[in-house]
Amino acid sequence: MNFSRRVLDTPPYLFHLIDEKRKAVQEKGIDVISLAIGDPDRPTPDFVLDIMAREMRDPRNHGYPSYKGEPDFCDAVARWFHDRFEVELDPRSEIMAVIGAKDAVSHLPFVFLDPGDSAIVTDPGYPVYEASIGFTGGKVVRVPLSEDRGFLPDLDAIDPRAADEAKIMFVNYPNNPTAAVADETFFEKLVAFAKKHGLVILADNAYSEVYFEEEDRPISIMKIPGAKETSIEIHSFSKTFNMTGWRIGFVTGGKQLIDAFLTLKSNFDSGVFMAIQRTAARALEHSKAKAFNKERTALFKKRRDRIASALEGMGFKFQLPRASYYFWVHTPPSYASSVVFCADLLEKKGLVVTPGVGYGPSGENFFRISMTSPDERIEQGMERLRDFMKER
Ligand code: MLT
Repeated sequence: MNFSRRVLDTPPYLFHLIDEKRKAVQEKGIDVISLAIGDPDRPTPDFVLDIMAREMRDPRNHGYPSYKGEPDFCDAVARWFHDRFEVELDPRSEIMAVIGAKDAVSHLPFVFLDPGDSAIVTDPGYPVYEASIGFTGGKVVRVPLSEDRGFLPDLDAIDPRAADEAKIMFVNYPNNPTAAVADETFFEKLVAFAKKHGLVILADNAYSEVYFEEEDRPISIMKIPGAKETSIEIHSFSKTFNMTGWRIGFVTGGKQLIDAFLTLKSNFDSGVFMAIQRTAARALEHSKAKAFNKERTALFKKRRDRIASALEGMGFKFQLPRASYYFWVHTPPSYASSVVFCADLLEKKGLVVTPGVGYGPSGENFFRISMTSPDERIEQGMERLRDFMKER
């Protein structure tokens, strides 16, 4: 078969690989607990399902959607953005619907990169950033995230020539996999950095609503003066409303940037099912949305605190997650690689966690735990981890 170099050179998606390994163990009749992917265990709330049940029966929603996103969807996003982030966006030119955040993340590099161009990613980082840069024929420049800097990139340490050459830089706060958050000062520095070096920031804000304390409430990069000319921000409904399977999100940015993305996307796909757009739009502003978010935060905070005390009891080193669904934990020093640690844990205890190296070389001595499984499965998972650590 004459497959393209692009496909031959790209490893399978991290969670696809993990799924295959999990299935292979399950096929041996073992009860596997997965604390790997960040896929909420709770259903999409009833108030969202009720809207969808009506919208999907409306024949006006059955044709091709507009490429940019339905006007009522963009209007609702603009109002929500104002309410949530105190940022004014023009719904006609500064917002565009996408088929989930992964659609935006995987296609945006094609808007900016020609073969041989370079792009900065933070390491560790969501694996799709590097994969999509690779698909364009671009070169990846990794900027390490270290624990002592709160997993924020040291912008001053980036080689100025590499920064001048780079056309884009991916950032992701709240961060997957480290669960770190970034404040306004960081985003101000980032926008100044983008202006200075003439690159575009692709700010993945998929976890903007998953945080634990008010003081860590994520902001939007769009709030920073000049950001609209230098940045595109990516948002998702997946984690906010337990809608991972629905595939809907949006991007924001200045008109020129959004128009360029529209050129690419209108040639690649036909947009998001209008019933889903209308449901998502109404979910954002629904009278039950805030209460739902509060309840979700309380649930995950409880899970976070229980996992933290379990891990502490086992002697693991980690920083308490401030946002997102993840724990980013040091592997025990006796393990040479995070892959070996995770494989051993799966084989001996039927527990799946994610090897840190899957997020880049700087993730090598870490593993990631996701809090998106039912409470009793998380408890059982922690028991298995405890037994594993004792029996090693
Ligand atoms: C994760 O677990 O990192 C994400 O949920 C995976 C994804 O978005 O594909």
